[in-house]
Amino acid sequence: MDLLRRPLLSFLLSVPVREVESAHRQESLPRDESVRSADFRGSLLIELDSVTDRLDLEKIFGRNAPLHVDLGCGDGSFLCALAERMPEKNFLGIERLLGRIRSAARKAATVGNVRLLRMESSYAVRYLLPAGSVETFYLLFPDPWPKRRHWRRRIVTGEFLRAISQALAENGRFLIATDHFDYFEKIEEIARANPDFTMASPRAGDLPLTKFQQQFRAQGAVIHWLELRKVSPVR
Ligand SMILES: C[S@@+](CC[C@H](N)C(=O)[O-])C[C@H]1O[C@@H](n2cnc3c(N)ncnc32)[C@H](O)[C@@H]1O
Repeated sequence: MDLLRRPLLSFLLSVPVREVESAHRQESLPRDESVRSADFRGSLLIELDSVTDRLDLEKIFGRNAPLHVDLGCGDGSFLCALAERMPEKNFLGIERLLGRIRSAARKAATVGNVRLLRMESSYAVRYLLPAGSVETFYLLFPDPWPKRRHWRRRIVTGEFLRAISQALAENGRFLIATDHFDYFEKIEEIARANPDFTMASPRAGDLPLTKFQQQFRAQGAVIHWLELRKVSPVR
């Protein structure tokens, strides 16, 4: 269907990518017809029936498996490379830019365990992901908004971290990388104030490179990594 003839809500939230249709593996599609399979068929992009109901992950992925979520997945290079390494897990990429989500959908077309959502990450984390559903979140090179007057646009806030904690399973991980040291320090400060998390410096060597990471590496930039792990509340 022509993109512009779709209802506005659907257009804002996700986009059908017919170009992936021929490459998409049929067995990875959800079997349950109630996930609007007619719209879903041939697209890795999740079509939402409602912006207030929590995602039905089993229907979306066609199976139950630990969920990894890449927030601001960009062109999907990292998401798809990681999903190929871990076929036993489900991978959800969330990205707000149309061009990037399309690139991600093209890459994901041959990977059975990836789904994509075009949306604001913070909204999806807070309102759409079921509580305790996520094993690992990735926030890799979030927009740094370096000018002080733009800091309020930064995604990591106390409220955002509380929503992350809510969506994480017990012992779940939140992995963050940035080349902006001041943003990194701010994130550490926000994390320290949240008793749901312990902090560690992860070894990033095991993970595939993201597109932005490749660029920053080429420029010789220092990359700062932080791993937050959700801890069980002390009783
Ligand atoms: C600097 S890029 C990094 C992309 C990718 N993670 C990588 O490392 O190659 C930041 C990405 O996050 C997306 N983004 C920024 N804020 C977002 C938000 N609130 N919700 C969804 N996507 C967002 C941007 O559109 C962009 O694609």
